[in-house]
Amino acid sequence: MISLGALLLLAPFVFSPVAAQQGAINSQDCVQNYDANVDYFPSKIHVDDAALFKVHYEKNYKVVTVVSTVPPVSTKDYILTQCGTPVPDASKFANGSVFVSVPVTNAATIATTPIAFIEMLGRRNTLKLADTENLVSSPCVQYGLENNQVIGLEDKNLTLRAEQFASVDVVFSSYGAEKGTENKTVITSEVLDPGPLNRAEWLEFYSTFFNLEESAQNLTATINNNYNCFKKSAIAQTTKPVIAWTSYIAPSAYNKNTASWTISPAPYKQILSTDAGATFFNGTSTATPATFEDSAAFLETIKPVDIIIDETMSGAAMSDFLTNYNLTADADFKFLKNKAVYRQDGLVNPNDGREWFGSAVVQNDAVLQDVIRAVHPQILPADVPYNWIRNIAKNEAKQVLTAANCTAKDASTPVVDRALVCSNMKVSQPSAASKSVMAGTLSAILGLLAAAMAL
Ligand SMILES: *[C@@H]1O[C@H](CO)[C@@H](O)[C@H](O)[C@H]1NC(C)=O
Ligand SMILES: *[C@@H]1O[C@H](CO)[C@@H](O)[C@H](O)[C@H]1NC(C)=O
Ligand SMILES: *[C@@H]1O[C@H](CO)[C@@H](O)[C@H](O)[C@H]1NC(C)=O
Ligand SMILES: *[C@@H]1O[C@H](CO)[C@@H](O)[C@H](O)[C@H]1NC(C)=O
Ligand SMILES: *[C@@H]1O[C@H](CO)[C@@H](O)[C@H](O)[C@H]1NC(C)=O
Ligand SMILES: *[C@@H]1O[C@H](CO)[C@@H](O)[C@H](O)[C@H]1NC(C)=O
Ligand SMILES: *[C@@H]1O[C@H](CO)[C@@H](O)[C@H](O)[C@H]1NC(C)=O
Repeated sequence: MISLGALLLLAPFVFSPVAAQQGAINSQDCVQNYDANVDYFPSKIHVDDAALFKVHYEKNYKVVTVVSTVPPVSTKDYILTQCGTPVPDASKFANGSVFVSVPVTNAATIATTPIAFIEMLGRRNTLKLADTENLVSSPCVQYGLENNQVIGLEDKNLTLRAEQFASVDVVFSSYGAEKGTENKTVITSEVLDPGPLNRAEWLEFYSTFFNLEESAQNLTATINNNYNCFKKSAIAQTTKPVIAWTSYIAPSAYNKNTASWTISPAPYKQILSTDAGATFFNGTSTATPATFEDSAAFLETIKPVDIIIDETMSGAAMSDFLTNYNLTADADFKFLKNKAVYRQDGLVNPNDGREWFGSAVVQNDAVLQDVIRAVHPQILPADVPYNWIRNIAKNEAKQVLTAANCTAKDASTPVVDRALVCSNMKVSQPSAASKSVMAGTLSAILGLLAAAMAL
C-alpha cells in the first residue's frame, strides 16, 4: 500500500509540465483587446521526431521554420501572428519570410498531401480550393468538391485562377510557389522527412496554422503509441523475410527510350520494413541507389527477395507486373512462389489518384499495419483488411474511394485514422494483461491524487 504522503511527493512529476499545458487551448478567435503581456499560445508543440521543421513561440506570434532537403538545401520561416495582435516587423526576419494570420480560415492546396493532415485536424472547413482535384482521393474532399465546399482551381483562365488565389490567406504546397502567390505559399516537407513517425509529426506543423497544437500532439501521441505497439510484436518475430520496394520505368522520350528498374533505398521505407520485422533490401552496398538498364542483372539482384512492393505507377494487374519485370508466372523467385507481390494502389479515386500520397503520409501506424500484413500476417487478426498496400499476386482489388465513402460529412469533423487499435488485438499480445493491470494501477493512483488535491 502506497502512503498518501508518497503520492503527494509524486504529484509534481505527474502533473507538470504536460498537465499545465492541457486545458490551455490556443484561441480560435481574434483577439479583441491586445495585451503585450499575455501569452496567446499557452499550448506549444514539442517536436520529437520530425527533422525538417521547428517552431519557436513568442507571446503573440510563432516562427515556424521548414527545411527543404531538395538541393540546394534551404530553410524558410513562416511568421504566424495571432489574429487581432500586431504583426512583428519584417526586418526581424530573413528575406522571403511569409506572414500568416492565425488561426487560418481560408486555405488552398496545390498538392494532395496537405489534405490528409488538414482533415485529421478537423479543418477541412478551411479548405476552399484544391488543385489537381481529379487526383484527390480523400472521400470527404471529393464530397466537398461535389458540393462546392471546395473548388477546383481553374487551369485555363489564369485571370480567374489569380482571383481564386487572392480569395485565400494561405496556399499549401509540397514544391515551389506559383507566381504571384509567393507571399502566401507555405512549402512543406513532410514527404522528405526521413521516417514514418517524422512524417506523422507534421500534424503538429499543420496544427500551428490552426492553433490546434494540443489536438495535434494528442493525435501524434496516439499514432506513435499504436505504431510502437505494432512494431513491438513484429520485431519480436524470429524470421526476417527480405522485402524490396521496386519500380519499373518504361522507355520514353525522357530516358532515351531505355527501360530501367530501380530498388528504393528511401529511409522511411527502410524503417517501415525493419519495424514490420523484415530485412530491408536496397540491392547495393554503395551509397548510390540501385538502378539497372539490364533486366537480367536486375532479376539476378532481386533473387534473395521474399516480398516485392511494386511501386510502378502504371500497370495494376499481376500480368502487367510480370511483363514489366520480364518474368514468366512460373519463374523461380520466392516472391512469385509465395504470392507476395504488392502495390500501393489499394485505395484510389475513380481516376486512379492514390491515397498512398494522402492519408498514408500521416497515418503511419496504419501503414505499418499494412506492411506487417505483407511480412508477418500471423500477428494480425486473420481477416484484417488492407488499406493502401494490396497483394496483386492474390488478386486483391483496388478499393475505389468516392464521395460516398465520406464518413465525416460535417467539414469540421476530424477524419479518423484507418489503423486497428493494436492494444485491442487478440493475437500475439502476450503482455496485454500485465499492461492493463499497470494502467489500472496508474488510474487508481491518479484517482487518489485527484482526491488528495481536492482536499
Ligand atoms: C531582400 O530582398 C530585397 C529585394 O529582393 C533586396 O533588395 C535586399 O537586399 C534583400 N535583403 C537581404 C538582407 O538579403
Ligand atoms: C476569365 O476569368 C475572368 C475573371 O473571372 C473573366 O472576367 C473572363 O471573362 C474569363 N475569360 C474567359 C475567356 O472566360
Ligand atoms: C502579398 O503581395 C500582394 C501583391 O502581390 C500584396 O497585395 C499583399 O499585401 C501581400 N501580402 C502580404 C501578407 O505581404
Ligand atoms: C488531449 O489529451 C488530454 C489527455 O488525454 C486530454 O485531457 C485533452 O482534452 C486532449 N485535448 C484535445 C484538444 O484533444
Ligand atoms: C544499402 O544498404 C547498405 C547496407 O545494407 C548500405 O551500405 C548502402 O549505403 C545502402 N545504399 C543506399 C543507396 O542506401
Ligand atoms: C527479357 O528476358 C529475356 C530472357 O529471358 C531476354 O532475352 C530479353 O532481352 C529480356 N527483355 C528485356 C526487355 O530486357
Ligand atoms: C466505399 O463505399 C462503398 C459503397 O459506396 C463500399 O462498398 C466500400 O466498401 C467503401 N470502401 C472503403 C474502402 O471503405
